[in-house]
Amino acid sequence: MTILNLGNIDGPILLFGGPYSNLQATAAMREVAEQHAIPPQNVICNGDVVAYCGEPEETVEYIRHWGIHVVMGNCEESVGEMQDDCGCGFEADTLCSLLSVEWYRYVSNQVSAQHRDWMRCLPRNIRFRSGGIQFTVIHGGVENMSEFVFASSNLHQKYQDAESIETDCVIGGHCGIPFGQKIDDRYWINTGVIGMPANDGCKNSWYAILQPNSQTDSSSFNVSWHKLDFDNTAAANAMKRAGLSSAYREALLTGIWPSMDILPLQEKQQQGQPLSIPPLKITPRTSDLSRLNEHTDHTVHGCQDNEAITAR
Ligand SMILES: [Fe+2]
Repeated sequence: MTILNLGNIDGPILLFGGPYSNLQATAAMREVAEQHAIPPQNVICNGDVVAYCGEPEETVEYIRHWGIHVVMGNCEESVGEMQDDCGCGFEADTLCSLLSVEWYRYVSNQVSAQHRDWMRCLPRNIRFRSGGIQFTVIHGGVENMSEFVFASSNLHQKYQDAESIETDCVIGGHCGIPFGQKIDDRYWINTGVIGMPANDGCKNSWYAILQPNSQTDSSSFNVSWHKLDFDNTAAANAMKRAGLSSAYREALLTGIWPSMDILPLQEKQQQGQPLSIPPLKITPRTSDLSRLNEHTDHTVHGCQDNEAITAR
């Protein structure tokens, strides 16, 4: 497992996932970071830089130029390794599976060899500490990056997964619908994705900001979820120019996904209902976890030949 350990990070941290080849949303995300004066070293994308939308090569280029941290998503793993499909784990003959054939072929044809090399060397986990709390950013599941972990997924399993990687707070993405949960003394956060609306009937997408509660109480944090507004029409037009079919293009314009194949019943029932996610307070666990990062060395354990990582 390739793990990037960032050590301690101070100040607000911008967390998002799923740019999905949506250059307009990615540019809007960077504008937000700059408005909040959040530097690239405090920005973490939890993967799937490329997927459904029309500008995969440009989006990778933009993200790399921005200089933020990126966790490998299943799309980066598949494109980087030149695999036959997106690795989402869609069941055969479902609409998600059928639609993925088209966009994955387009992505595969567009992404340059240089960016494939970058994708192959991305870390699968990024760990950091802030205020004595250990955070771990993953893509989907702890064991399987393509696992869809939803708010309705088993809480006990989430707790065990967090425990298994010795982390207080897991930060994931992949499933496309943001949420945050306190599970006993651990936490599971899904940042949402920026490249596609959350199937809630709204055109915005979602990201999260993690920040200390106050200057006098830097050991507890607030995670807050925010709507990202971007130029949906321009993103849809880019898909049209790319010759992609209308299913996900319409999702950009309506906020409704073309398929709910992957969704559990609870999330299916929420389709078309605007999301509202209250902030979540994160406090240190009572047990002393400081030993976990005693030997923080900022090295990447695995691929060492990727300048986008080793330069950090
Ligand atoms: Fe994914």
